[in-house]
Amino acid sequence: MIDPAGMGGGTGASAEPEIIVLPSPAEVAGAAAERFVAAAAAAIAARGRFSVALSGGSTPKALYARLAAPVWAARIDWARVHVFWGDERCVPPDHASSNFRMAREALLDHVPIPAAQVHRLRGEDDPSAAAPAYERELRAAFPDGVARLDLALLGMGDNGHTASLFPGLSAVRETARWVVAERVDEVGMWRLTLTPPALNGAASVLFLVAGRDKAAMLARVLDGPRDVDLLPVQAIAPVDGTVTWLVDDAAAAQLGRGRRGS
Ligand code: 6PG
Repeated sequence: MIDPAGMGGGTGASAEPEIIVLPSPAEVAGAAAERFVAAAAAAIAARGRFSVALSGGSTPKALYARLAAPVWAARIDWARVHVFWGDERCVPPDHASSNFRMAREALLDHVPIPAAQVHRLRGEDDPSAAAPAYERELRAAFPDGVARLDLALLGMGDNGHTASLFPGLSAVRETARWVVAERVDEVGMWRLTLTPPALNGAASVLFLVAGRDKAAMLARVLDGPRDVDLLPVQAIAPVDGTVTWLVDDAAAAQLGRGRRGS
């Protein structure tokens, strides 16, 4: 029985994540592209559509650039792809910080995806209106009451945030709403973010993490005690889905031996 609402408070159990360590960020992007293609093919074969949530960040950008290359793009039936976002910065869609702009320029402008299937968070609107508007859009796309994304792409900040669930803020504790807006002083701006009850409805979560500046946090998140207020990324635990971490050697440097080998 899927009950993502029960996952919002950080009390739920999760399946063991799979951790895959690769030599370089380029290989992380390549492995992610393979998984993206496979997830799209499986979802389209099973249900006729593929719903994916994109993330901001540098490692996803490398993935998007790869998927935009004709040899990769041709492997996906873009007419059946529905794109959402895990989070957005509260800026206009053409702003240099916009996650939508990054994904559009790196990927969406280069593939034949119908415009109506690109569901962006409206960072240019009043955040208190943009969050419930996106929640309505998501709930219309997932009328069964579970945000059953086939794939949710996520990154991890070196402070333990994921999507725009930041340490010490309330979004990570949300138990009912799928989308919230929050002022994040740490980055000096408002953010819109999917919440754990939404993200934990996904069939598959794929974390992309690269770089030595992530090594200490990755070890803390995967090997240390659970504390979702300090380490919001630990709140991501799909109720009926898988979690895979694709990490490069540098980011994996401080993981326990058992972790690195798995
Ligand atoms: C954002 C992201 C954010 C990101 C991490 C990791 O909008 O900034 O969605 O959660 O994924 O900060 O980013 P990097 O991969 O660039 O380190």
